[in-house]
Amino acid sequence: MAAAGSAVGLGNIWKFPYVAGENGGGAFLVVYLLCVLLFGMPLLMTEFMIGKRSGKSAYGAFRELSGNNSWQWLSWLCMLTAFVIMGFYFVVTGWCFNYLVEAMTNAFSGFGTQELTAHFDTIQSNKLRMVGFGILPVILTAGVLWFDVNKGIERLSKILMPLLLGLMLLMAGVVLMMDGSSAGMRFFLRFDFAQITPQVIMEAMGQCFFSLSIGMGALITYGSYMPKGQNVIATSVQVIVLDTLVALMAGLIIFPAVFAFGFDPAEGPQLVFVVLPAIFEQMTLPWLSSVLFFALLCIAAITSTISLMEVVVAFICEASATNKKPLNRRQAVLIVSALVIALLVTCVFLPGVFTYSDLVSACVMMPLGALGMAVFVGWKLPKKGVQPNEKWLKRWSRKFYLFVLRFIVPIAILLIVLNGLGVFKLSN
Ligand code: TRP
Repeated sequence: MAAAGSAVGLGNIWKFPYVAGENGGGAFLVVYLLCVLLFGMPLLMTEFMIGKRSGKSAYGAFRELSGNNSWQWLSWLCMLTAFVIMGFYFVVTGWCFNYLVEAMTNAFSGFGTQELTAHFDTIQSNKLRMVGFGILPVILTAGVLWFDVNKGIERLSKILMPLLLGLMLLMAGVVLMMDGSSAGMRFFLRFDFAQITPQVIMEAMGQCFFSLSIGMGALITYGSYMPKGQNVIATSVQVIVLDTLVALMAGLIIFPAVFAFGFDPAEGPQLVFVVLPAIFEQMTLPWLSSVLFFALLCIAAITSTISLMEVVVAFICEASATNKKPLNRRQAVLIVSALVIALLVTCVFLPGVFTYSDLVSACVMMPLGALGMAVFVGWKLPKKGVQPNEKWLKRWSRKFYLFVLRFIVPIAILLIVLNGLGVFKLSN
């Protein structure tokens, strides 16, 4: 459940609809689901097993399992990726908090399509306000790590996540009743082979890594907490099903509404923030439903930022453990918070940095991290005599898993990333 809390976040509700909208809807959805099966399943299992076997986070785990320092670079890549993601993730979490406050004060009630789009731009132009709203979740996340109350948060999110899903189900119901929503359904669910381009494939793969929290070592930490008897395969399936369900639900809410209200599905990162307020207007209790939704969204985002920041904090603690004066957790939390705030300010003031950190982390850094881990477990460890020794991986299933990890995953990642690199030129 904790891993599911890390997986379900802005990636499902904010990023999935906007990336799907920019990449043709139905075509993107099919490629995305294929990526989840092809990469999601083996890589979730791999990260969990690295953590479970070593009992450590990324930095300590690669050293422990390989017996030397030759794979330390991979944990540096993981740590760096976490930083790049946090820069823009906190900015968007700040948007969520901004909309929560505005929902409470009725700041956008009664707005039409154009007003909502203009409203988002107005908010963005107040940079200091955006920095303030970005720093708020940094402080909350740092507070959770500082007082070590992760467990309490996870317990809380076990109650709140079903509530979020329930509310989303209700919203999907309301949206699907609206005139003109069927065009949105067609956009999201109709598969058109001609729309599949190298860019669509790369962005779908990137979205899969981002949404499932893989390729960055975050789930190695979660694996290190698993009891010996825990079934890694079943856990991976549960995380995947839950995460995919929330993303699908978000698509079923946003796209019908986009077409019913006359928004543009390829609007970009602001998509859900301009569309959602228009939906609440159609609900029976607009104030309550918008406040409740944005509050739950903020909490879902915070359970994800906790796992992102934890990666870096654990890295600093494990990496400094051999020093004369090792850093303790609280010192690490302070250092990371300060750096993240600096990054967030950069993202707010230089929109290019925002766009690129989103694109590069998901489409290059996380795939490379995943590639590294696949090679590590598929090629390096067996040479050292370390085989995946899970009770649930016997005979043919272990052969199949190793085959996918050794050949399919690395080759597919390389092909997709190299093939998709044109995107970076396009967006210049
Ligand atoms: N998966 C989260 C989301 O969908 C984002 C996230 C949290 C993440 N922790 C992570 C992504 C670790 C990669 C690695 O919002």
